[in-house]
This record gives sequence, C-alpha cells and structure tokens, in this order.
Amino acid sequence: MELIKCLASSLMLTVAMLTTALGAFVGVNIGTDVSDLPSASKLVDILKANQITHVRLYDANAQFLQALSNSGIDVTVGVTNEEVLKIGESPSVAAAWVNKNVVAYLPSTNITVIAVGSEVLSTIPNVAPVLIPALNSIHKALVAANLHSRVKVSTPQSMDVIPKPFPPSTATFDSSWNSTMYQLLQFLKNTNSSYMLNAYPYYGYTKGDGLFPIEYALFKPLPSVKQIVDPNTLFHYNSMLDAMVDATYYSIEALHFSGIPVVVTETGWPWIGGANEPDATVENAETYNNNLLQRVLNDSGPPSQPNIPINTYIYELFNEDKRNGPVSEKNWGIFFPNGSTVYPLSLSTSDSITGNSASVFCVAKDGAPTDKLEDGLNWACGQGQANCAALQPGKQCYLPNNLKSHASFAFNDYYQKAHGTGGTCDFNGTATTTTRDPSYGSCLYTGSSSISGLSFPPTALGPSSPDHGASWNLQASTLQYILSAIGVFMAMLVL
Ligand SMILES: *[C@@H]1O[C@H](CO)[C@@H](O)[C@H](O)[C@H]1NC(C)=O
Ligand SMILES: *[C@@H]1O[C@H](CO)[C@@H](O)[C@H](O)[C@H]1NC(C)=O
Ligand SMILES: *[C@@H]1O[C@H](CO)[C@@H](O)[C@H](O)[C@H]1NC(C)=O
Ligand SMILES: *[C@@H]1O[C@H](CO)[C@@H](O)[C@H](O)[C@H]1NC(C)=O
Ligand SMILES: *[C@@H]1O[C@H](CO)[C@@H](O)[C@H](O)[C@H]1NC(C)=O
Ligand SMILES: *[C@@H]1O[C@H](CO)[C@@H](O)[C@H](O)[C@H]1NC(C)=O
Repeated sequence: MELIKCLASSLMLTVAMLTTALGAFVGVNIGTDVSDLPSASKLVDILKANQITHVRLYDANAQFLQALSNSGIDVTVGVTNEEVLKIGESPSVAAAWVNKNVVAYLPSTNITVIAVGSEVLSTIPNVAPVLIPALNSIHKALVAANLHSRVKVSTPQSMDVIPKPFPPSTATFDSSWNSTMYQLLQFLKNTNSSYMLNAYPYYGYTKGDGLFPIEYALFKPLPSVKQIVDPNTLFHYNSMLDAMVDATYYSIEALHFSGIPVVVTETGWPWIGGANEPDATVENAETYNNNLLQRVLNDSGPPSQPNIPINTYIYELFNEDKRNGPVSEKNWGIFFPNGSTVYPLSLSTSDSITGNSASVFCVAKDGAPTDKLEDGLNWACGQGQANCAALQPGKQCYLPNNLKSHASFAFNDYYQKAHGTGGTCDFNGTATTTTRDPSYGSCLYTGSSSISGLSFPPTALGPSSPDHGASWNLQASTLQYILSAIGVFMAMLVL
C-alpha cells in the first residue's frame, strides 16, 4: 500500500515538474579566509577562464560584487551569521542591507539570490527565533525595490537538521525545529524560492562508522551485493548525495509541503587531511568533484524527484588556510590562488542551460589495460597523426605524467581531427566519448571551447589519473533488491 501510494505521488510530481526542468548547473563557493587571496579582478578572470557560471559569496564583499559586474556570472550574496540577528530584529536594518549590497549593484552584477546566514539552526540556534523574520524583512525590502521576482531569498541548512537521513523515505526534520521549519517552508513556497542544503558525503562517510562503502560517497559503481536501497520505496541510491537530497525532499513532504526545489549550496571533498583523516586525499577529492559534475550535469534529480535537477555549488574555490579546525578544514579548494586547478577538473560544461552540449571529447576509459593504452597512445601520436607536442616534458599537458592522462589527450586530438572522415573513438576498446571537457589548467583539449586568452600553468599535483566515467550499471535482480533492503534494514537496527 505504502509503496503504491509513494509511486503514485512520485508520478504525479513527475508530471507537474516536467515543465520546470531546466539544465542543471554547478557553481562554486568563494570563501575568503585565504592568506594569498587574489585581487577581485584576478579572481573574476579565473572564474571566466573556467567558464564558471554561478558563484556564492559568504558576504557581500564590495570589491567582488564590483568586479563581477558585466561578467554574466550569476551571484548569490550572503548575509553573515553575525548580521542575521540585527536584520531579524529590525526591518529598517534589513532594508538598508538590501539597498547597500544588492540594489546598488543590480543589474550590472547579476545578483539572483540572497542566502541569509549559514547553517543558523545548527550553529547559532539562539538566533533561530529571528531567522524567519530576517528572511521576511529582506524579502519585503526586495518587494519595495521591485526586485522580488529577480532576487530570491533563502537560508542554507546543514544535514544536522535531519537526524536520521537514511532511509530517505522516513527522514524528518528534527522535531524541535518543527515550527521554524514550517515557517521556513511556508516562506519558500510563498516566494518561489529553493530550500538550501549543505550536503557533505565526506562527513556522511567518515562519520558513518563503516556503515556505507566509500564508493557510495564518491559516486562510484557499487557491487551488486552492496546496493543501497530504501526498504520502503525500493529506490536504489547510487550516491550518498542523492540520498541526502532525497532525505530533504521527504522531510519537506513530512511537513506537507511540495514543489519546493532543493539546491545544494555546498558540497565537496578535502584533498589534504591530518594523520587521523586518511580519506582527505587528492585522489578522492578529484574523484568526488569530477563525478559530482557528471552526476549533476546529467540533469536528473534524485530518485524521488527525477525531474528536478540537483543544482549544486562546490565547496570551494580556494583552500581557506586561515580557518580553524582540523587540517582537512583548510583544504577544500579546487584552485590554487594562481589559477591552476589542484587536480584535473573541468567546470566548463557547467552551463547546459545554453544547450551547448555539442562538444564531444574522446578519452581513455577507466581501467583500460596498460599495454593496450600504450599501443593506442603510440598509434595516435604516430600513424594517427595526432599532435602530441603538448605531452612532451615541460609542455602544458605533460603533468600529470601518467599513461591514462597522456592517452586521453592523444586519443582526443586524433578523434577531433579524424571523426569527420570516419575516425572513431575506440582504440581497441580503451577509449570512450564524453561531453565533459577534460581540459585543465593550461592543458586545453582539442575541441575545447575554453577561453585561451588566459593561460594557467598545468597542475603539478595528482599523480593519480582521473576516475570519472563511472558507469551506472545497475543489474541487480529483484532478489538482490530485497536482499540488500534487508541488509540495510539490519544495518539500521545495529545502529
Ligand atoms: C541573471 O541570471 C539569471 C539566472 O541565472 C538569468 O536567467 C539571467 O539571464 C541573468 N541575467 C543577465 C543579465 O545575465
Ligand atoms: C513535530 O511534528 C511531528 C509531526 O507532525 C510531531 O509528531 C511531533 O510531535 C512534533 N514535535 C514537536 C516538538 O512539536
Ligand atoms: C510564484 O510562482 C507562481 C506561479 O508561477 C506565480 O503565480 C507567483 O506570482 C510567484 N510568486 C512570487 C512571489 O514570485
Ligand atoms: C543520470 O544519473 C542518474 C543517477 O545516477 C542515473 O540514474 C541516470 O541513468 C543518468 N541518466 C543519464 C542520461 O545518464
Ligand atoms: C600555482 O600554485 C601551485 C601551488 O602553490 C604551484 O604548485 C604551481 O607551480 C603554481 N604555478 C605557478 C605558475 O606559479
Ligand atoms: C589494436 O590491437 C591490435 C592487436 O593487438 C594492434 O595491432 C593494433 O595496433 C591496435 N590498434 C590500436 C589503434 O591501438
């Protein structure tokens, strides 16, 4: 009965949401506790060179907002936690904030969202009583300026407000926040705004006491005996991020709201950790963020809301070395301040709203046998007449110096030149096509639309090869569904 009800309601939602499904985007958070923070204009150059279309600031830094003008970049500005109290207590303070930090920059700086505070309920619960008044006052100030349809207002929550996120179908908000959550959802519904979620599979995994495999946190395929299934809906969860987003949708539904999209305002993976943080590695960060991009940009939603894309902001642009806390806390950045990526990562297909999915690249497959890759590389650079100059020591695509990375560059150069005349992306089964631009730093793949006016050096890090291209191969039989449902259920009892 429950299952049928659930399927029926998800079908109805599917129909209702079809018309709102736009291409998904992946933006970036810009934290500024950085000792060698680039100037605002340098920073905007880095964003543009990497075709980053959406950014979130934690405050309303005047220099950044000025530098972002006429950049075409969509900006979320932040009311800091320190400011929330006064704004919540005084509509005139709220109006002054909006005038100074939003009205003054529009329309040349495309501010589209105001994030009021950050994880207020879980970090400064004493401010909770004025959080919704703060949202309302900010919104009223926007109405007064006739900007309310252009600028939305919301407030990011951590997963901590959902004490038991798995299985997603039974998730609810911490009941001590019933009234605040109810008012928040009412506000979001009335103003057509999104629920902002900070979702960290890194913490879900590292604090999960081995309940979930790391593959699940990193969007990697799961062995059929380890499928993660919600025992009530029988939905398969391919990734912890999907499950976290769904837990949020179900928690919203438990308070009888629907039609409020969830946007992931923060997610990411640290690439250096302390002695007791073995999962904070370059390899895991590279895997997480590349797979995240691929997951989000396929435009599909989580299992319960397949047609609402999971728009996401990666945490974060630069390492914030001035932050307190464990080593990992300071190492979430995807760029160095000089503009090189920390590991190969391409954000350039982030904006599929423009429908610019025409570019197809050819890259080496994950797990392709070394000897075959070597043959393919030699063939491409020889008989295949690919231009492999960039792979020479000291040249822009030499690093990371590994076979998979070099083969990908050569395969792609061959493919771009030859596919018009029948050349294929095969290389004895070691190659595959992708729409994700594999360019990084100053290593630009043939066919990339990356702006080359700015030239960043190649990353010197990352001896490991990229591990994207995970195939979402789900072949579990009905029996396996049920077996793993029981497995998960037992795991929960143990918890
Ligand atoms: C501002 O951003 C919104 C949302 O991404 C977009 O629809 C709009 O076209 C942008 N406006 C400008 C002037 O770039
Ligand atoms: C919160 O709401 C739930 C569901 O409506 C209810 O069961 C629970 O008792 C409420 N908690 C409080 C503290 O009001
Ligand atoms: C929200 O969207 C609905 C339907 O699209 C529209 O009628 C309403 O005016 C919008 N409200 C606001 C505050 O933008
Ligand atoms: C998009 O990702 C979801 C979740 O991993 C997957 O179920 C779906 O098949 C993917 N769709 C495409 C077109 O790749
Ligand atoms: C950019 O910064 C990184 C980290 O400090 C460094 O490894 C790299 O060599 C730098 N590149 C240039 C050209 O300075
Ligand atoms: C494919 O494999 C065959 C046999 O191992 C080899 O002779 C040929 O050069 C390979 N072709 C490419 C493009 O790697």
